[in-house]
This record gives sequence, structure tokens and C-alpha cells, in this order.
Amino acid sequence: SAVAPFSVRMPVPQELRPAWSGPDHDLYKIAVKPANLEILPGLTTPLLTYGGTFVGPTIRARTGRPAKVVFVNQLDRPTNVHLHGAHVPAVSDGHPMETIDPGRFRSYDYPNAQQGTTLWYHDHSHHMEAEHVYRGLHGMYVIDDPAERRLRLPDGPYDVPIFLRNAQFDENGGLVFFSPYDRTTILANGRPQPYFPVAARKYRFRLVNGANEYTFRLTLGGAEFQQIASDGGLLPAPVPLTELVLGSAQRADIVVDFARYPVGTQVVLTDAASGAPVLRFDVVRQAWDDSRVPDVLRPLPPMPAATVRREVSMRFGYTETDVFGLVNDKQFDPNRVDFRIKRGDTEIWTLTNGDSDQGIEHTFHMHLVQFRVLDRNGAPPRPWDAGLKDTIQLPPNETVRVQATFRNYLGRYVYHCHYLEHSSLGMMAQMEVVP
Ligand code: C2O
Ligand code: CU
Repeated sequence: SAVAPFSVRMPVPQELRPAWSGPDHDLYKIAVKPANLEILPGLTTPLLTYGGTFVGPTIRARTGRPAKVVFVNQLDRPTNVHLHGAHVPAVSDGHPMETIDPGRFRSYDYPNAQQGTTLWYHDHSHHMEAEHVYRGLHGMYVIDDPAERRLRLPDGPYDVPIFLRNAQFDENGGLVFFSPYDRTTILANGRPQPYFPVAARKYRFRLVNGANEYTFRLTLGGAEFQQIASDGGLLPAPVPLTELVLGSAQRADIVVDFARYPVGTQVVLTDAASGAPVLRFDVVRQAWDDSRVPDVLRPLPPMPAATVRREVSMRFGYTETDVFGLVNDKQFDPNRVDFRIKRGDTEIWTLTNGDSDQGIEHTFHMHLVQFRVLDRNGAPPRPWDAGLKDTIQLPPNETVRVQATFRNYLGRYVYHCHYLEHSSLGMMAQMEVVP
């Protein structure tokens, strides 16, 4: 699958229009269905899709305005949907065991009662999530927050969601999911190493790492850009960076100012982890720009004092014939509650990688909440770990402490390694929020 970089233009996934807008919520409808689409130029790739597109349609919701999304399963297998990073009632969280049978539909309620941020939705059907997401069941979900408008960050056509992932193709364009593992083709919004025409002004890019198992290290050839948001929304202040580390399932909003480049300049976003180009920005025209990146963005919510402490460790377990994913030495069991959490409590979880001697990397993702990283190996969080987070890297020999407050909703939610090949093998556990 040797496609010359920058031979196709990067599309921007279509924004989904509500099927119906009522006084108190918007209703969306998405068919989950197979499709044959062109990813590599001239070849057709069989995919599983949301709405027939790869990446799925982007939902643009608004803080304070609930959305109801009806997913219609037109696949030949069960599926379900999790809105990653969202604070939602348990019945709408896409619990791994609550799937939609073929031919059926399910309606998910998303209250959007959280601050503005970049989320994504994906399949979460147990044992199948890795393959389903890999084959295309992923889309972006932006929550616009009216309270953030006064900041005058770049918006409209200058606010561009970019879904990054890797993939492996066979010579006919088919996706290769099983080994040999060689996912070296980088896709931006579903096309391989595309180009994207920009004006010589500021852009906000909402970067989503939708790769099953990969950490991007993104650079603009050493040029500086500003990170303004992480998983759960705006950082307190912009962070100037020359390299952004973005792990599986994480998001980062960055602002790049192309005004410093003459028209005609080509600026390449590179993945320093692999050395491969990701995307080329072509500065093609001048444009008026009254957007800003203010020095102060949005204070983080206060952190109540923690009253409960817990330990979580991720590792693999082996028998002679099998590999299991384990959290605290146990494989996921939907009938077992691993942690019972009192609603309203604030807890500190200490996360460790139990495979340090094997050199295996894991990640940690918790449903329901946005947490804060207190420290990593005792040191303060790195800029990209700061702010509101729902997913963090857990490399060998690192210990991370996170703090979360469990507000509002009761019920069962999962936490797991977001290397989806690992969670598919059971590296997942269950918490229940109780009154
Ligand atoms: Cu993005 Cu439990 O997942
Ligand atoms: Cu893992």
C-alpha cells in the first residue's frame, strides 16, 4: 500500500443535521452499516461505518442542550455505541454487554451538561470493540460551549476536527486487522497522509487519536503551536508546544497560526514517533483574522478533597494456550462489581503498569468522569496530561495518580485499558456508583 504522501485532499467529516429539533433537545439518527469506500486512491475498502462514511459524521452539540442519538444497527452483528469522554446516565453509556442486535435500534441520551470539548463515539461491544473500531466504527462529537464564545478562538471554517489513526491495508485495499501487525499507514480524517489547503491565519484543530493502539508525537517541523484543550475541554491557559504527545483515544485542541508563512508555503505535520508525515497544510491564500488565543482560557473546576483511595494495575495474564487482559489480576466479568463508589465522593486512584518487566505499554480510561492527573512518578503532570482528562498513557515503570469526583449518575460503568486489543481480551473492570 505505498501511496505517495499528499496525493489526496483531507476531507472534513460532514456535520450531522438533527432529524428533528424540539424545544428541549435535538434528535439525530445514524445508521450503523457496512460500506465500500475509497481510502487509498483507486482502491475500495470494505468498512463498518456510521452513516456510510469513514470517519462517521460529526455531531456538533451545545453545552446545556441535550441530544438524543438513535443508532440503527444495519450490520450482521451486534454493536453498541459509547460516547467517549461524556458524562451520561449509565443506560446511555454503551456498556459493553448492552448491545444492539442486527435490525434493531437504540436511542442514547446525551445531556451535554459539561463544558465545551472534543469527544468521539465508537463501538464498545465486548470482545469485538478492537475490530469494530478498527474497521471504521468511529466518529467525532464536539460540544460547543456558549460560555467560551467571548474568548474569540478561531471558529466556523477555521475550527477543524481531525481524526487521526493508523491502519494496515492489503494489496486490494482491504483492512488487515490480524497479524502480522504492521499498521504503518497514517490516516487523517480517513485518507492517507493527505494535504489540506489553509488560509494564512489562525486555525483551531481538534485532534482525536482514534488509533486502537498507538501514540502520536506530532510536530510541525519544530515550529511552535499552542495547545488550548485536552480531553475534557479548555486548559486554564494555552501551552506553547513544539511536540504534542497524543495517545490512543486522547484529544487535544491546538491553534496553529499560519499567518507567519507566505502564501505558497507547505507545512508538514509529522509523527516524530514513526518519522512519517501525517498531513500537509498548504497555505493558499490570505484571510482576515480577528480570532485570538487569550492568555487566560478557562479555570479548571475546583478539586474537592479526596476521601477514598484505590489502586489499579493493568497487565496481561497467560495460560499455555491463551492471553488474558487483567485489571487488578482479574479479567472483566460483567457480573462482578470491582469498585463500589458513593455518589458525590472524590477519589484518588493510583495506576500502575503490571507489565513493566515485559516492556508493554498500557493506557487508562475511565467512563463517566473527567479526572485530573495529580502526578506521574511523583512529578507534576506534563502539559498534555494537565486539565480535564479521561485517558492517559501508562508506560512501563510509571505510576500515575488521578483524582475524580463521581457526580450525578448512578449505575455501572467500566474503566479499562484503551488499547482496544487489550480491553477486548478483558483488560477492563467495572465500577458502580451507588447512593
Ligand atoms: Cu473510548 Cu470505554 O472507551
Ligand atoms: Cu493495555
